[in-house]
Amino acid sequence: MELDGARIWVTGASTGIGAALARELADRGAHVAISARSADQLAEVAAGRMAVVPVDVTDRAATVAAGQAVREALGGLDVAVLNAGTWSSFHVEPWDSQLFADHLQVNVMGAVHTMEAVVPQMLSAGAGRVVGVASVAGYRGMPGSEAYSAGKAALINLLESLRGSLAPRGIVVQTVNPGFVATRMTDRNRFPMPFKISAEAAARTIADGIARDRAEIVFPLPMAVLMKVVRVLPVRVWTALTASMARRGLHGGPERRRG
Ligand SMILES: NC(=O)c1ccc[n+]([C@@H]2O[C@H](COP(=O)([O-])OP(=O)(O)OC[C@H]3O[C@@H](n4cnc5c(N)ncnc54)[C@H](OP(=O)(O)O)[C@@H]3O)[C@@H](O)[C@H]2O)c1
Repeated sequence: MELDGARIWVTGASTGIGAALARELADRGAHVAISARSADQLAEVAAGRMAVVPVDVTDRAATVAAGQAVREALGGLDVAVLNAGTWSSFHVEPWDSQLFADHLQVNVMGAVHTMEAVVPQMLSAGAGRVVGVASVAGYRGMPGSEAYSAGKAALINLLESLRGSLAPRGIVVQTVNPGFVATRMTDRNRFPMPFKISAEAAARTIADGIARDRAEIVFPLPMAVLMKVVRVLPVRVWTALTASMARRGLHGGPERRRG
């Protein structure tokens, strides 16, 4: 697709990958609207050249209203990038169901609410594009990542289902599966993060992938190769590897945080 002149909404754009992507898309000539909870940070990212629509994507009604505000600000909408997300390590003791629910609320239901905010109008128009930011962490279950990986696996599956449902109606669905990217989300991780790249490099790859109509945008290349291999490993082998990681404490990492 042509990014120059496209009307694009990016959620989770107050920091990290979303902020870098919003800037990259604006640099390429797109008309961009950005959302997240922090209005001040959004205004900084927008720097006067993007529409700012603060919203908490866990709030269904507010997210649907934000979609309408974005369409009014941009004069319509061609692409929605569902990027808002959260990560905390999960510990099996004490068990924390609330942390699990918080992850699903943002990483799954936040995306679902944003879809509700844009898909009906795209169906009416017979055109549009939904770009969901999941993660290679959704490929397999990993110790310490129970809440995050389960949500990202759900999102990968949801986007894949939708890709088939919406293709006959003229709507493109793309899945973004980043490896490690240096952002606020990862800066407190204390475990190894191989092949970590900058948010700007991630943004360039995502923008290229959107423009090239890739069904799946997975990066960086070494991580993509590694995780594609990991994905097809037999369960017995993956269990041995992850149990060994857990024994050596190579999981979890950041202190618990929510939000
Ligand atoms: N960094 C990585 O290594 C990595 C790897 C794979 C996938 N990802 C995915 O990439 C996406 C962006 O992550 P990032 O690394 O850029 O992290 P980040 O810097 O922490 O950005 C997360 C963004 O999501 C927003 N957000 C969080 N909860 C929200 C809510 N309830 N409603 C609206 N916005 C919300 C945050 O803004 P506010 O706090 O202002 O609301 C922020 O703009 C996430 O979906 C993440 O899972 C990241």
